[in-house]
Amino acid sequence: MIHIAIDGPSGAGKSTIARLVAARLGFMYIDTGALYRSVGVAALKRGFDPGDEKKVEQMLPTIRVTLGFVDGIQHVYVNDEDVSVQIRLPEASMAASAVSALPAVRRFLFGLQQDLAASHNCVMDGRDIGTVVLPDAEVKIFLTASPEVRAQRRYRELIEKGNEVNFDTLLKEIIQRDYNDSHRAVAPLKKADDAVEIDSSEMTLDEVTEQILAIVHQKIGEKA
Ligand code: DC
Repeated sequence: MIHIAIDGPSGAGKSTIARLVAARLGFMYIDTGALYRSVGVAALKRGFDPGDEKKVEQMLPTIRVTLGFVDGIQHVYVNDEDVSVQIRLPEASMAASAVSALPAVRRFLFGLQQDLAASHNCVMDGRDIGTVVLPDAEVKIFLTASPEVRAQRRYRELIEKGNEVNFDTLLKEIIQRDYNDSHRAVAPLKKADDAVEIDSSEMTLDEVTEQILAIVHQKIGEKA
């Protein structure tokens, strides 16, 4: 199996780019953030703080998280309920960030991510794919962009969807989430030693995609 790990902070364009790269290679795209989001949403639904370690730990044996693909699009299920829409709500982002700092949650999702990778050529995006989940991935990319550019992209996306948003609030949230993700004790966001860093601040989606495909072809040549 061939594995491509794409890690980086929120809003760097990982999921869009990972999806494009996977489509071009005919690989499966696995969005691991959706898994953390689904655990966060499960905690919110049960009415407790997603940062409450004890409660979240007690909840884990009662939930089953699965991924499915409908017309090639990833859906995520908690106990067979499709939560793909709920996990994109703003409160789900913060809940995901909170549960992702808990070692029990990371252990819970680790096996699922490894099982998926064991049976598929895939492009997997997240925070610790190249460092923890798939340390032997053939290609590792660390995708970044400045906080301002990431907030600007998110702002445009939300405005286009008709949401009322404040740019400064978004920027603050992004900076806070970066801090949480890179300072937590377990599997913090950090570039793997053998990852190629790409700063997408001044690049188009196509440019980033082409650069990654060039790296893939250079590293694995004929196999991809
Ligand atoms: O990529 P995203 O915004 O959907 O991720 C949601 C949260 O989950 C984010 O705060 C970081 C966390 N996460 C993680 O800790 N490890 C991953 N492999 C993917 C996401």
